[in-house]
Amino acid sequence: MNEVIKSFKNSQWFSRLPELSEFKKIIKNGLSGAKVLLLILISWSPNAFADSANLETGRDIFYKHCKACHGDKGNGQTFAANVLNPPPKNFTVEKSKKELTEERMIHSVTKGRKGTAMMPWESNLTKIEILSVVHYIRKELMKLEPSGK
Ligand code: HEC
Repeated sequence: MNEVIKSFKNSQWFSRLPELSEFKKIIKNGLSGAKVLLLILISWSPNAFADSANLETGRDIFYKHCKACHGDKGNGQTFAANVLNPPPKNFTVEKSKKELTEERMIHSVTKGRKGTAMMPWESNLTKIEILSVVHYIRKELMKLEPSGK
């Protein structure tokens, strides 16, 4: 349930929600309270969640696109590690937890790391998907608090 509330709060819909005073203005300007309520209900359809970063989406993407190199536990101990130089990042060690800020991870996944096997994903994944997979790595593999930078 917390996840649902969190993803609702992170959703673009929530951030588009006008301030309460804006609502008052809308009502004053002639829209009845019932109509406003209806508008809220319509915009808060299940689709309102579709554009927010989400852990399950992140897990799916990680298993599909990242696991082969980084490993399902994110420790980089995969077959690929034997043949890649530098090897895939081990997300689980302290050094990585210190070094990898959320911004850096988003940037590296989007643009890739020049001269390494870490390719840019911007043409394969949407911004929201990149955010989702980074959140998944940080929360489930690095065991960091969501807001920890
Ligand atoms: C072909 C192997 C391969 C695949 C697939 C791969 N990576 Fe990587 N990844 C690497 C390597 C190698 C590095 C280490 C790059 C370096 O040391 O600069 C790396 C590093 C990273 C880093 C740390 C970058 C930094 O700033 O130091 C992140 C975050 C990351 N990968 C996320 C992902 C995500 C998310 C996916 C899936 C969408 C993915 N990787 C798929 C090989 C891969």
